[in-house]
Amino acid sequence: MDNFKVYNPTSLFFGRNVIEKLNSCIDETGKRILLIYGQGSVKKNGVYDAVRKQIEMAGATVFEYSGIKSNPVYTDVDAAADMAKKNNVDLIIALGGGSVIDSAKMTALTACVNHSSWEFFIRKTTVEKALPLICVLTLAATGSEMNPYAVIQNDAVGQKLSYGHPLIFPKYAFLDPSYTISVPYNYTAYGIADVVAHALEAYFGKGQADLTDNIVVEIIKESIHKGQMLLNDLNNYELRADIMLAATMALNGITMYGRSFGDWGTHSIGHVLSSLYGLPHGASLTIAFPAWMKLHKNKLDKQIAVLGKKVFNSNSAEDTIYEFEGFFKKIKTPTRLYDFVPQFDKDNIIIELSKNKVNGNYHNISESDYKVLVELMTAH
Ligand code: NZQ
Ligand code: ZN
Repeated sequence: MDNFKVYNPTSLFFGRNVIEKLNSCIDETGKRILLIYGQGSVKKNGVYDAVRKQIEMAGATVFEYSGIKSNPVYTDVDAAADMAKKNNVDLIIALGGGSVIDSAKMTALTACVNHSSWEFFIRKTTVEKALPLICVLTLAATGSEMNPYAVIQNDAVGQKLSYGHPLIFPKYAFLDPSYTISVPYNYTAYGIADVVAHALEAYFGKGQADLTDNIVVEIIKESIHKGQMLLNDLNNYELRADIMLAATMALNGITMYGRSFGDWGTHSIGHVLSSLYGLPHGASLTIAFPAWMKLHKNKLDKQIAVLGKKVFNSNSAEDTIYEFEGFFKKIKTPTRLYDFVPQFDKDNIIIELSKNKVNGNYHNISESDYKVLVELMTAH
């Protein structure tokens, strides 16, 4: 077991109608709110109205920044931060999925400095404060609601990078599974795939503790089992709740107990695919993970086989990879690039992997591995 540190200050409200507690949390946190949301789903499913009602009950003043894109961009963060500064905002509320929450986290930081949000991603800036952040989650996937990370894209330079700082843990997070019932089949499946991928990134990280590995295994089994049931029954509250809980647990720190860090090589590959081809995050991972496991199969033979035995009752690393791929196909997420992108340039992908220095924290991906990965991700 490796040394590890536990810190998670987010207060989480989970379940039906927990939004009713939002007004008292606003009351104690801020009076001038910037409400950030995406491209309109929250207005169709009633969630926006519920949040506005709570803001009104708290007697707070609200400004809005909407239009956050899936695979969010730093220019939106900068514009939201300008709006926050101009209006002396003292609290940010994120209403949406991971893209909105990540944008809100970076807005909370950028509103306290005089430079672009992208600076946080490309150089070590001193971070002294952030505005407090409350999240109302509408999509189960990233775990952003209870962690200190944000992932943002810069289209001008073709990079999608992640940033982490304890100051961007949400202060409060509201998770009502009924708010995720309107998520369509495809994004529900991408979310489930993301949860599995987060558990795998932890499993392949540095350090090992049997109890934590069992938590990882249970998160994967739950996501596979309940995930498939949910995809056949999208309106089922209990199944939405099961996946929402799995998503939060997969990246709130608990899978890292006994490890010093996760690997995250597959996410690094996925971010390049998203940046190049606009692939939804979960879809990029179901292409990248089977290829990553095949690349490292010899080195990780035993570890993959042990996992496969527990998750699928499979008998070898090869069978385990086959089972993961089979699961992704069953839930209709892409396992090869051509499943999603009609035309691509293999050489360009290799260049971008290299330019972005794609690598794992623990399992090295060399320059020569990039070509192998691209062949695996595009193999027929
Ligand atoms: O923009 P709107 O109209 O809201 O539509 C969104 C979007 O089109 C829609 N949606 C969200 N909630 C809905 C809904 N549609 C109907 N009903 C609802 N209740 O779903 C689409 C996808 O939303 P998005 O927020 O992009 O998805 P997700 O939650 O998967 O977030 C993905 C982003 O998070 C990053 C990814 O890289 C990606 O940029 N990640 C963040 C992490 C973190 N902060 O810890 C870790 C992850 O590994 C990941 O990298
Ligand atoms: Zn992810």
